[in-house]
Amino acid sequence: MTDFDSRRRLAIDLAVEAGALARSMRQGLGTIESKSSIDFCTAADLAVETLVRQRLADAFGDPVIGEEAGGEPADLVWVVDPIDGTTNYIHGTNNWCVSLALVQRGVVELGVIYAPDLDQLFVARRGAGATMNGRAIRTSGLRHGGGAVVEMGWSARRPLAHSLDLITRMIADNIEFRRCGSGAMGLANVALGVSDGYVELHINAWDALAGLLLVREAGGWTNDFLADDGLRQGNVVVACTAELTERLLALEPLRGVA
Ligand code: IPD
Repeated sequence: MTDFDSRRRLAIDLAVEAGALARSMRQGLGTIESKSSIDFCTAADLAVETLVRQRLADAFGDPVIGEEAGGEPADLVWVVDPIDGTTNYIHGTNNWCVSLALVQRGVVELGVIYAPDLDQLFVARRGAGATMNGRAIRTSGLRHGGGAVVEMGWSARRPLAHSLDLITRMIADNIEFRRCGSGAMGLANVALGVSDGYVELHINAWDALAGLLLVREAGGWTNDFLADDGLRQGNVVVACTAELTERLLALEPLRGVA
């Protein structure tokens, strides 16, 4: 039997430790490797991922799939983004985080996201709800009474025209959109109820899995991200307060997403 309680406790401490390490390395970032025109890797990304791998290996011997050093799927595997929102981190803005998810046989069991600059610690355990700084959180339910606000991420992994088409259709349907630069935080904000949805035509598993569990445990809807080898290949992501699901899935670029 997997000891999820011990892993949950360790993941919380580790996310905070990793976030502090990233913060301490922010001055004098050194060489920044460019993976694409909008995708970067700093020395902090590498150092944080190394720390996370080391701690998880020491405590449990668990394997890891990480953004920087890769890894292979296993029965029980951690999926780690050492810094999600690296561009924000580099530019000195606060919307970035450490994201840790634990997947057992294709099911996300734990998700922990820590945003050091915002002092926000999100934790989700499958079947046991989602919290931010220890307080239970829920999706918005559109209770704000205003128009829907949806964050949309994009990357060079899909043709730009497809993302522009999605933005056009959201605006035509009176959905206000945002782009804040961290998929993990975009999803956490849906769980927190300060954003009504998050969509992106392709995102990697390390950016999304912890946040997707948060949204589900906060009462929201998400697509089945791990279908079609999402763990290795990434996938489209749609996550929202349940009241918005039908409207988002009616937008042409998202039709058929399940
Ligand atoms: C990126 C961010 C961005 C999303 C991209 C990701 P990174 O991750 O989450 O918001 O739109 O798809 O690649 O590079 O900051 O870890």
